[in-house]
Amino acid sequence: MKILVINGPNLNMLGTREPEKYGTKTLKDIESYISEEADKLGIEVNFYQSNIEGEIVNKIQEAKGIYDGIVMNPAAYTHTSVAIRDAITAVKLPVAEIHISNIHTREDFRKISLTAPACVGQITGFGAVSYKLGLIAISDYIKSLKD
Ligand code: DQA
Repeated sequence: MKILVINGPNLNMLGTREPEKYGTKTLKDIESYISEEADKLGIEVNFYQSNIEGEIVNKIQEAKGIYDGIVMNPAAYTHTSVAIRDAITAVKLPVAEIHISNIHTREDFRKISLTAPACVGQITGFGAVSYKLGLIAISDYIKSLKD
């Protein structure tokens, strides 16, 4: 099984960006943590981060036929991007949306996810563990499709 992990804008700054909300792990730390879990599950995992909406749309389109599913933290685009939502719907790949912070306990504009309705589900608020939970959830979902 091949899973793509996509991180949206400003997540390249993890570690120093608002650590009280997003923790002190860097994106590299989180990617290593996901890789460890992927090894345990026997999953091949690749990583992509971009601050640019159209690049994320391109990456989702390119994932079709290469990956079995996606774990994505769309970051601020969660709350604004019809284009990313449409890309997910267009490729018909199963996506787990994840967030480090609990978006439902924050500002009102963060409580709305435009992307989540195109995803299998959303995991939010468990810090870096959200990525691990997303990987477990999407791999289980993909397996259940093959049963
Ligand atoms: C985030 C939550 C978003 O509202 C925010 O714009 C981010 C990170 C999270 O992982 O908690 O950049 O997606």
